[in-house]
Amino acid sequence: MSNIITLPGLIDMHVHFRDPGFEYKEDILSGALAAAAGGVTTAVCMPNTNPVIDTPELVRYVLNKAENAAIRVLPFAAVTVGQKGAELTDFAALKLAGAAALSDDGNPVMSADVMRRALRLARDCDLVISAHSEDAEMVRNYAVNEGKISKLLNIPGRPAIAEELMVARDALLAQETGARIHIAHVSTANSVEIIRRAKNDGIAITCETCPQYFILTEDAVLTHGALARVNPPLRTEADRLAIIEGLRDGTIDVIATDHAPHSAEEKSRALTDAPSGMVGLETSLALTLTALYKTGLLTLDEIFDKMSRNPARILNLPPNDDYIEVDLDRIWTINPENFRSKSRNTPFGGAQVCGVIMRTASRNKEVFTVTLN
Ligand code: DOR
Ligand code: ZN
Repeated sequence: MSNIITLPGLIDMHVHFRDPGFEYKEDILSGALAAAAGGVTTAVCMPNTNPVIDTPELVRYVLNKAENAAIRVLPFAAVTVGQKGAELTDFAALKLAGAAALSDDGNPVMSADVMRRALRLARDCDLVISAHSEDAEMVRNYAVNEGKISKLLNIPGRPAIAEELMVARDALLAQETGARIHIAHVSTANSVEIIRRAKNDGIAITCETCPQYFILTEDAVLTHGALARVNPPLRTEADRLAIIEGLRDGTIDVIATDHAPHSAEEKSRALTDAPSGMVGLETSLALTLTALYKTGLLTLDEIFDKMSRNPARILNLPPNDDYIEVDLDRIWTINPENFRSKSRNTPFGGAQVCGVIMRTASRNKEVFTVTLN
């Protein structure tokens, strides 16, 4: 059976393309191919590269390389120089060079004073800041959620409160400064509740979550080891259900991937030594359709709000003619061997999902057509 529909191209406002500096994990061209295969026609890439994207020259480096990419790739620029959390970058110059937004993703901006000044300046430049909300001192380099699994494995964990404190702080700072804040990868029930209340209070706050947070719980660490290690960590079933409720009632505006490629060698290390993150571009639509659409939790229109229209609105992106064709009813099994990405670090290998991207068109070119086997 097939049920093919045409939809606007997806916009993923949280990917890591590792370029420059870690091209063995991914580069802008390979990341764009993975995006095209996943129906993503605009990807906004995080600046935690080497060097960090914190100057106009580096913003232009990304944009120049992106000209030859399969899809539209836009850079986030860093909030602070070197993402060190101290000195603000030149927001106006970064915007002029083409930065789509600002983020120190991976490195929470720990100083409230620095974040306050950043928000004021971002407001004046009409740029949104995407915040990685975890108190760095509380989470250190710990591998899993603090709770059942950290106890079972006898390792320190990253507590939910470390995320919630930062979400609350940044909501208050956004209120006080009148700036726009976007909370990246929301993972806890209380974070959703804090954002819900902040929105009710009229604060200019938006947020995203990722498929791993509405599909998996911390238990996945036991079956998938380091492949299920991600920051913020996978949480509890109660958190997972609250994320779904937040998606349903509109508190959560966006579904992004946090596509975070790492090599097989890096992910084969012990749970406590492996880097955090999972790839997501080639599985996010199918995982979302399977978990939220086929189950009746969200309508197709709501899913495309969260995967295309809302990111465009938050980032002020101009409309375009990019589109995808999706067979909503075709079932397939996720096989990381078939990924276009340079990396295969996903805990979803072997999962049966529905929804096949048949064709992706970006900038008036067909950039992906499915090979069915
Ligand atoms: O798990 C993560 N990996 N979370 C982040 O915030 C950063 C990312 C990365 O760069 O690998
Ligand atoms: Zn992050």
